[in-house]
Amino acid sequence: MFAADAIDTADKPRFFAELAQQLEALLDGEDDPVANAANTAALIFHAMPELNWAGFYFLREGDELVLGPFQGRPACVRIPRGRGVCGAAVERRASVLVEDVHAFPGHIACDAASRAELVVPLIRDGRVLGVLDLDSPVPGRFDEADRAGVERLAEIFLAPRG
Ligand code: SME
Repeated sequence: MFAADAIDTADKPRFFAELAQQLEALLDGEDDPVANAANTAALIFHAMPELNWAGFYFLREGDELVLGPFQGRPACVRIPRGRGVCGAAVERRASVLVEDVHAFPGHIACDAASRAELVVPLIRDGRVLGVLDLDSPVPGRFDEADRAGVERLAEIFLAPRG
C-alpha cells in the first residue's frame, strides 16, 4: 500500500521536492496512463492545501480537450480549442497562472467556488498531449513556486516508465 506522508507546506520548494519524490514512488514501474493520471491527481489533491479541483484534460481529435482523471466536483467534459485557461495553456505551450479567474476573459467556470487556477501543459516530444489543471477557492493561491513545482510533477507524470 502506498502511504503518503504529510509534508510541511510552509517551505514550497522543499514541499514540492518531497511531493515529487512521493509521485515518483507512486508511479514507479507502472506505464498505464489512466492509472498514473488518476494517482497523480489524487496525490496532488490531497497533498496541496486549499485546492478544490486537481486533474487532467487530454487533447483528443479535433484539438478538443476532454476530461481525464481528476479529484473534486464533476467538471466540464469538453473544452474546445483555445477556450478557457486550459485552452490558453495549450495554445501558448506554457503554464498559465491565474490569480483571480474573474479577471481572466474566457475562463470556464466548472465550479463556482474556483477563484485561482494553475494550468500546466503536458508536452512530450514537442507534442501537447493535454494539461494538468489545479483550481483553488482562494484568490492568489498559486505563485511562481507552485508553477515550478507543478511543472516538475507534470514532467514526472510524462516520464517513460514501466
Ligand atoms: N477553468 C478551466 C476549465 C476546467 S475546470 O477548472 C476543472 C478553464 O477555464 O479552462
